[in-house]
Amino acid sequence: MVNSMLQKGAPPMQRLEIPVISYHARTATFMAAQGFYPSPDGIYRDAAARSYATVLTGTPHPTAHARTWGCQMNEADSENLRGQLQQMGYADSASGEDADVILLNTCAVRGTAAEHALGEIGRLKQLKTERPDLLLGVCGCLTQMPETVEYLRRHAPHVDLIFGTNNLHDLPGLLQRAYRDEAQTIDIWAQAPETVEDLPARRGGGVKAWVNIIYGCDKFCTYCIVPTTRGRERSRRPGDVLAEVERLAGEGYREVTLLGQNVNSYGHDLGDYDFADLLRDVAQVPGIRWIRYTTSHPRDFTLKMVQTISDHSQVCEHFHLPVQCGSDKVLRWMNRGYSRAQYLELVGHVRRLLPHAAITTDIIVGFPRETEDDFQQTLELVREVGYDNAFTFQYSPRAGTPAARWEDPVPPGVKKDRLDRLNALQYATSRRKNEALVGSTQEVLIEGGSRKDPEVLTARTRGNRLVLVPRVLGAENHFGLARVTEAQTWTLHGELVRVEQGA
Ligand code: SAH
Ligand code: SF4
Ligand code: F3S
Repeated sequence: MVNSMLQKGAPPMQRLEIPVISYHARTATFMAAQGFYPSPDGIYRDAAARSYATVLTGTPHPTAHARTWGCQMNEADSENLRGQLQQMGYADSASGEDADVILLNTCAVRGTAAEHALGEIGRLKQLKTERPDLLLGVCGCLTQMPETVEYLRRHAPHVDLIFGTNNLHDLPGLLQRAYRDEAQTIDIWAQAPETVEDLPARRGGGVKAWVNIIYGCDKFCTYCIVPTTRGRERSRRPGDVLAEVERLAGEGYREVTLLGQNVNSYGHDLGDYDFADLLRDVAQVPGIRWIRYTTSHPRDFTLKMVQTISDHSQVCEHFHLPVQCGSDKVLRWMNRGYSRAQYLELVGHVRRLLPHAAITTDIIVGFPRETEDDFQQTLELVREVGYDNAFTFQYSPRAGTPAARWEDPVPPGVKKDRLDRLNALQYATSRRKNEALVGSTQEVLIEGGSRKDPEVLTARTRGNRLVLVPRVLGAENHFGLARVTEAQTWTLHGELVRVEQGA
């Protein structure tokens, strides 16, 4: 059983034959019908050289702003929204307050994420009153929940456009409708009828890029809203992923992060090609120096995958293995599909093949009916694995998930206390692990100036640790070596002892 989990992965829940379409071809057809054609600057313009955005807004230099909550998949979606806005002729507005279009890309995973976004929507009512020409759109995971749409319909009429995760590639048409229609424009698709390729992206600066490899999630953990908000699992074709990675390498990107809610189930709907095969093939792309991936599901993490990561130095030795809980009973209630022993066996494989790998996790405390004994098992597991870092959460009921309907006698104060105790243990472990690196020299990718102090640069180790180093002129976006001089719980401090040129 253990071996079959580790070697073959879980069987697919269902196979979907989802057609693949080209964003470019589809959008060009739509635009041509409106009299717009791509110009040499990449912007859709009409015969009078006016951009699509200029015609929509009636202003010569329209701007747009997209704000994001949630995970890396939402960040990547926002890059696609910005890429589309750019092709329409909107310039990027950094602050947002003066933008002609504001899009809020929301997250629904916990109550707090939803509240933040709803709070921001409420706050923007004033701006919309001051600037009635502002077009306010809300999209992302929160709008995939019918209760949010109902709420926005009733209580937020200042929101002009509501769309979801499955039709974000339709932005040119959605904006046209939102400008044209008096009533709120609402368009949510429960599922993605097709996989859309060659979406434009306006990526953040630097040499790191996100690459989606699989959309949706079929795991249906009983606490989780993501299968509702992101729909059924569908893998991109390996050729499309590899072509994108090659293009990125050609544009100077050096690190790619392969994205999915469960990257380890990549290929279940494709036949005889899995995540390990994809890692092996991405590692062959010249110019790509580091490969990361997120998020992993322990149930689908096969021994072949661990072996492939160990065999390819391009794949960073960082394993994010969300365990959620240390009690078998609660893991069953959560529908995680692995036992504590199976999880620890996977950790054992990682430690055996890559003894210096960083291992991180996600943990939920206060799941309905979690006892003190269940929680103690989580603490024990955390002690046993010795995570480099952990994202810890208090269980948050999400409407429409099975667990939200279950009786939950655990008082909020007890849940909060468990979270505090877990955090105390993890913080101490993270600090100890960081302290062990003092004096070592780490390979790093140097990012940019730190937010607090421009004289300090941030850099990331292969294990995804943050290292703060004094600025070295021209070091940004290069690989280098950092000597670690000091450790804190979340960060390392150090100095650059080498900066590679032309990385
Ligand atoms: N696909 C990823 C998880 C995405 S959500 C995975 O399976 O690992 C990120 C994390 O949020 C989850 O790992 C879980 O720890 C947490 N989470 C999800 N739903 C939650 C809920 N209802 N309450 C509290 N935490 C939750
Ligand atoms: Fe949510 Fe579970 Fe899917 Fe992760 S694997 S996104 S926790 S349902
Ligand atoms: Fe949030 Fe949606 Fe990601 S719910 S965590 S933005 S998939």
